[in-house]
Amino acid sequence: KERKLILAIESSCDETSVAVIEDGQKILSNIVASQILSHKRFGGVVPEVASRHHVEQITLCMEEALSEAAVTTEELSAVAVTEGPGLVGALLIGITAAKAYAWAHDLPLIPVNHMAGHIYAASFVKPMTFPLMALLVSGGHTELVHMKEHGSFEIIGETRDDAAGEAYDKVGRVLGLAYPSGKELDELAHLGQDTFQFPRAMIREDNFDFSFSGLKSAFINRVHNAEQKGEELDRLDLAASFQASVVEVLVTKTIRACQQYDVKQLIVAGGVAANQGLRKAMAEAVAEELTDVELIVPPLRLCGDNAAMIGAAAFVAAEKGLVGDLALNADPSLTL
Ligand code: KG4
Ligand code: ZN
Repeated sequence: KERKLILAIESSCDETSVAVIEDGQKILSNIVASQILSHKRFGGVVPEVASRHHVEQITLCMEEALSEAAVTTEELSAVAVTEGPGLVGALLIGITAAKAYAWAHDLPLIPVNHMAGHIYAASFVKPMTFPLMALLVSGGHTELVHMKEHGSFEIIGETRDDAAGEAYDKVGRVLGLAYPSGKELDELAHLGQDTFQFPRAMIREDNFDFSFSGLKSAFINRVHNAEQKGEELDRLDLAASFQASVVEVLVTKTIRACQQYDVKQLIVAGGVAANQGLRKAMAEAVAEELTDVELIVPPLRLCGDNAAMIGAAAFVAAEKGLVGDLALNADPSLTL
């Protein structure tokens, strides 16, 4: 049987990534060129800077991905690329490169939703079994997605304001941490205790939505109040208290969603899925409260943005005949 090799490209935000994926499940290469250092001094991703970096990196990453995978262009069966959501200028660099490559080598072009990609990162760990629930937690999104089969996505709940990762980044800034501060805040949280008891927004409400802006404000107000009074707050406890609130809400609502939809699998994906507190609490809650539900959390390197996950989602899309053409355009607000 001939192997199906997909060249996958991801450029939706601040990572230029190109991967070669065999049969949707084997990662032959997954090059990730991060621009974080360039954005750090601005305290966030600057779209124009991101686009320029993608332009500089994209062809280098494509060459490196092919050479590391030891794959020639002739062996490829398709080119996949992130269509959205993301920064329009950043997306366009990947899309233009993918279109040019697909046209030059007469290969099918497969558009992929970035959030679907995050979910499909789980398929490198274990095959997906349906119905499943996915908790998607990233810098721009926080949503619970119910999947009855491949390619079918039903958003049953989402954040009404800030995404979980966004809250981490904003709160981290108040603590003087560099952008993006999720990882560092996570590390600090492990050294402190939940002494502040911040609110757990919407935790008891009969829906699957989230809200993190109230928590963010409570945190910022607490810090500013202390500053005005010259009171010294324990940074580790602040971090631990913030994290305890985020994790408890995410875990509680996700477990409830799994029960209500009677799923076989739970996938936790996206940049915030790298959070050690969330990984641990979710594993414990699944073991205690859900019988026969298999939890899949991708390895750390596949939680953040990468092209391997785009290749995995593209493999399934290609099997369903979801192929694009050269009219493909970036869709910054594409939904699942
Ligand atoms: O999925 P991702 O790489 O990019 C987007 O599509 O948004 O997610 C990036 C987000 C950032 O907000 C970052 O602070 C957060 O993921 N993040 C974390 C951790 N590692 C990354 N948040 C909490 N704990 C972590 N360990
Ligand atoms: Zn992402």
